[in-house]
Amino acid sequence: IIPEAVTLALFGAQGDLALRKLFPALYQLDRASLLHEGTRVLALSRRVGDPQAHKARIEQALRQRLLRHELDERILERFCNRLDCLTMDFQCATDYEALKSKITTQGPLIAYCATPAKVFGAICEHLAAHGLAEQTRIVLEKPIGHDLRSSQLINEAVARHFPESQVYRIDHYLGKETVQNLIALRFANSLFETQWDQHHISHVEITVAETVGIEGRWGYFDQAGQMRDMLQNHLLQLLCLIAMDPPSDLTADSIRDEKVKVLKALAPITPEHAKQVIRGQYTAGFSQGKAVPGYLEEEQANSNSTTETFIALRTEIRNWRWSGVPFYLRTGKRMAQKLSQIVIHFKEPPFYIFAPEQRSLINNRLIIRLQPDECIALHVMTKEQGLDKGMQLRRGPLQLNFSEAYQSVRIPDAYERLLLEVMQGNQNLFVRKDEVEYAWRWCDQLMASCTCLGDRPKAYSAGSWGPMASIALITQDGRSWYGDF
Ligand code: BG6
Repeated sequence: IIPEAVTLALFGAQGDLALRKLFPALYQLDRASLLHEGTRVLALSRRVGDPQAHKARIEQALRQRLLRHELDERILERFCNRLDCLTMDFQCATDYEALKSKITTQGPLIAYCATPAKVFGAICEHLAAHGLAEQTRIVLEKPIGHDLRSSQLINEAVARHFPESQVYRIDHYLGKETVQNLIALRFANSLFETQWDQHHISHVEITVAETVGIEGRWGYFDQAGQMRDMLQNHLLQLLCLIAMDPPSDLTADSIRDEKVKVLKALAPITPEHAKQVIRGQYTAGFSQGKAVPGYLEEEQANSNSTTETFIALRTEIRNWRWSGVPFYLRTGKRMAQKLSQIVIHFKEPPFYIFAPEQRSLINNRLIIRLQPDECIALHVMTKEQGLDKGMQLRRGPLQLNFSEAYQSVRIPDAYERLLLEVMQGNQNLFVRKDEVEYAWRWCDQLMASCTCLGDRPKAYSAGSWGPMASIALITQDGRSWYGDF
């Protein structure tokens, strides 16, 4: 369904996120005929300079980002005609007059804040002071704060002018097709839901491994670290979708209520448990065949930094469904491979009748790979074929590979889905205030416990699977990370 005509005011339009992700996503929506002909994009930036030059920069970024077959000159021209660039100081009330005068459509105003969180409050205040609050949907990019207190302050500053029903907090992982598929997989297949608990599942792994380093973002990253950059948001959201109870319907609040229950039930990481948290920092090594510097040798680096670029931990969810089931989480930069996957390991059958030496083979796994090559695979046990094989077992996948199965269908980028949902006024794929705050509450405790231990992050070579201690974290429980080697 094509959303109604909107004005999309993009604050931070010359920033990295806008140029790399948001403009290409908007172009793709235009290309798929999902933008109403009346939709306008206001590219707002603080940079001084000629707005025409800003427009040229956006066009150039699109030409660089899009694949050759995606770049259609007619659509690019149509998209650029929707675009208007304006330079303004986001904190200055009078600059909003010019912005207001550019809003010509009757439809909703989408104020997308791709800016540091410290200006969210000012943007909301000035939009409201100019009488724009009622028609506005406000979109907030992560990170929302760096701990519970700062996130509460940001959320309060926004809530002074906008009710929660108008606030869309982005976690772009929720826009990924396979992440949304988790809901379909779990709640449209009774096969899984009846097995989805501590009686049937032995443990769960969530891995989000990246090959990139910090991509010139030292200033931001060194303050955040991998815990705030990835664990507090993306990994906890994945954990919530895996662990939540079935919502009573698909409305945004029903889903978010269930996610909040999971966050509330997460076992706190106290100083005694902090040894189960492995923080790492990459040293020089090879990434995809290329020599790369260590974290402390990156541009603008402070060579004493103890910020982690990798984190792995074991946690539990304290409720009836999950009691006693470990959840192993890990995420890192400059790892061996780009890989985001969730692996659900099912328990062994209650009574074993096959050859004793094959016992270690017996357990079913469900693998949900988000990237690369989105796929869902269920590893099941069958018999080896052949007269000479007797009852010899083998494990093989029942596999649904999305990129192969839907070859003619392009898998959209997460931001395309999320922008479309905001235009449709759908909050399902956005994070509610209390979700962000419960996630911070848990992470604050985790960080305080690590600080208590006072250890420095453990070194790992760029291009590896992280510090050895992160392997020991799972092997000491008689298990291993799936598919590392
Ligand atoms: C962002 C983080 O939220 O997610 C980045 O700030 C990270 O540091 C990125 O690289 C990973 O996203 P994706 O979609 O490439 O897995």
